[in-house]
Amino acid sequence: MTNATDSTRQPLAALGVASAEAVAERFAELRAAFDGEAAGASAGAESAKMLRDSWMGRKSGVLTLITDNWLKSAGPALRPAVGKCLNELRGHVEQRLEELQRAGEAAAENAAAARERVDLSLPGVTRPLGSRHLLRQTFADIERIFLSLGFAVVEGPEIETPYYNFEALNIPEHHPARDTMDTFYVDTPPGPISSKGAQRLLRTHTSPMQIHTMEKQPAPVRIIVPGKVYRRDNPDATHSYMFHQVEGLAVDTDITFCEFKGTVEYFVREFLGPKIKTRLRPSYFPFTEPSVEIDASCFVCGGSGCRLCKQSGWIELFGAGMVDPAVYGFVNYDAKQLSGYAFGLGVDRLSQLKYGIEDVQLFFQNDVRFLRQFP
Ligand code: FA5
Repeated sequence: MTNATDSTRQPLAALGVASAEAVAERFAELRAAFDGEAAGASAGAESAKMLRDSWMGRKSGVLTLITDNWLKSAGPALRPAVGKCLNELRGHVEQRLEELQRAGEAAAENAAAARERVDLSLPGVTRPLGSRHLLRQTFADIERIFLSLGFAVVEGPEIETPYYNFEALNIPEHHPARDTMDTFYVDTPPGPISSKGAQRLLRTHTSPMQIHTMEKQPAPVRIIVPGKVYRRDNPDATHSYMFHQVEGLAVDTDITFCEFKGTVEYFVREFLGPKIKTRLRPSYFPFTEPSVEIDASCFVCGGSGCRLCKQSGWIELFGAGMVDPAVYGFVNYDAKQLSGYAFGLGVDRLSQLKYGIEDVQLFFQNDVRFLRQFP
């Protein structure tokens, strides 16, 4: 409270105010006091409210005190002058308070806008982009090559019956070829599947899809089958209990060993480079006859012998062969009319060879230091 506002606590008579001029003088002092306080109030809703309370508050605001102490006690001679000056002061106070409030709101808006302003020149937030796993890249590479030769890509179930995984591929029960493909068996839930007595196992190779495909469609067939396979193998640098294969199958009326050899040689050159030579070595698979292993000339030493090729100049790549006529018997294909070839690529090993990866386990450990080397 200033002296001027303090004076509103007493009647005019006690202040010795007895004329209209003296009234006007008192109001002029009050107006100056208000203007001073308004000028000192900082911009902001809080200080505008304090000023409003102190001047326009109902119980003890300055304007209420003037009404109670000056106007009501003024004699008839002074009352019109007090009333007029009071109205003028009220109008002034209201207008100035409104200005202050608007200025406070504008300042708050500006501050908020400044806080939220987007600086387009700032560098953006870089979100780390992942990359495709090296095995996925190798799958894509293999698929690209065979798609360009007219093969279609098909996928099949990872849980199989022994019939598709073994028997229909000419591997009867107790056949020694099953020893190298021991696998994990799956409990079947009670119901139609188990009542048929069929066991379920995790497929040990992608070859069952040869049978599924030939069962579903007549020749000609030209497919590749990328996918996961499982074996009861102990993990080491070249073995994993889960790994990846791409199966290939081509069956038609006039497929010769020459076409088979030309196709696999083309694949190896496209996959490892134009200077690579291939060699076919006799091998054995129950579902191909003749069976071969495809070797590639060592792409590190060019064939002269090094650590990678164990001084032999050759690297074993994958198994393949002409489809054994016995297999056609399982799918009702006419073995006298049809011929074909099949191959099974070990994707993890091919990837290890191509990119010089010493341990297959690195593919599955998810160490970003490894993954980042193959963006
Ligand atoms: C087969 O699986 C045959 N189904 C391939 C085939 C298909 C032959 C069609 C003829 C016609 P094999 O058991 O050799 O063959 O396995 C094929 C490839 O899988 C191997 O050359 C190797 O690269 C890879 N492989 C086998 N076992 C493992 C393992 N535990 N971990 C990683 N890769 C493996």
